[in-house]
Amino acid sequence: MAEKLLDIQNLTKYFSTKKGLLHAVDNISFHIDKGETLGLVGESGCGKSTTGRLLIRLLEADRGQILYNGDDVLKYTSRQIKEARREMQIVFQDPYSSLNPRLTVFELIAEPLYVNRVYKTKSEKEARIKELMDTVGLAQRLITTYPHELDGGRRQRIGVARALALKPEFIVLDEPVSALDVCIQAQILNLLKNLQRELGLTYLFISHNLSVVKHVSDRIAVMYLGKIVEVADYKSIFVNPVHPYSQALLPRYRWPSWMVSGSGLFWKGISLVRSIRHRVAAFTDDAFTGRKSVLSRRRSCCRLAKTAMRPATLAINET
Ligand SMILES: Nc1ncnc2c1ncn2[C@@H]1O[C@H](COP(=O)(O)OP(=O)(O)OP(=O)(O)O)[C@@H](O)[C@H]1O
Ligand SMILES: [Mg+2]
Repeated sequence: MAEKLLDIQNLTKYFSTKKGLLHAVDNISFHIDKGETLGLVGESGCGKSTTGRLLIRLLEADRGQILYNGDDVLKYTSRQIKEARREMQIVFQDPYSSLNPRLTVFELIAEPLYVNRVYKTKSEKEARIKELMDTVGLAQRLITTYPHELDGGRRQRIGVARALALKPEFIVLDEPVSALDVCIQAQILNLLKNLQRELGLTYLFISHNLSVVKHVSDRIAVMYLGKIVEVADYKSIFVNPVHPYSQALLPRYRWPSWMVSGSGLFWKGISLVRSIRHRVAAFTDDAFTGRKSVLSRRRSCCRLAKTAMRPATLAINET
């Protein structure tokens, strides 16, 4: 049986607002096994980020228990919290606002090492920073650049390097790819998966996008209005969601279970048909999607260009 890294019991966090008490996290219980990725999905404002922050004590819980390797994190002294922060890290959603724009890549990655006084000599620290840049796939030539000079994917790689700097065991990934475009999302998700395999990391992967979560998670917890309404492995959630909110999260049409859990031949067939269709559609008008072919798009561009070049008076006279 898998060993539990985190065991959360009756975790509760209320915020006092002008309208009264807001039940951001309402008496939730779940566990995360060592080396697994637990996906946490739910609509905006349901309490996902608050849960992530409570686990690593960036926020103080009102009630409950967070057992980390058997010890209650909520009973830690401030010194123990500081030590635990080395083990538990977070990657934030927005790589644009989570990095200090005045620091270079070197300084940004050095910050956690400096704050925790991990390396005594400068050369040791430099070697670790270069190693981290290699680990997350950042070229060494970028070491003196500032975040605004980099694209979103590279900035998020800096965020991952910072999280890895202290060799943690558990990382909260709070919507790590939501601010990135689809292509870069895939690169970062692959990086996170590879790092997990190589370093034996455990993740809480927060997202409101079920299709992203299903690619990375071993199990998925569905959150709704501050409560966890369902925890199951991703196939069960997709094939047989129990809670009405989990059903609502899924696309309208669900494939029959034999297609999802089968050998994968069906999906291979579908993707083959799709790729053939896209190739054909590149040269003829796509009858399925109504998209125009390369040739007809080029034709309409020429038509537009000609119209634009006509003198305005001519256009007025014509009308
Ligand atoms: N410091 C705070 N003070 C008051 N209310 C807060 C505070 N932090 C969060 N909230 C409220 O708690 C609720 C849960 O917030 P949280 O950020 O956890 O949601 P979320 O599920 O992460 O949403 P999103 O998907 O938009 O990031 C929201 O209604 C939010 O407005
Ligand atoms: Mg959030």
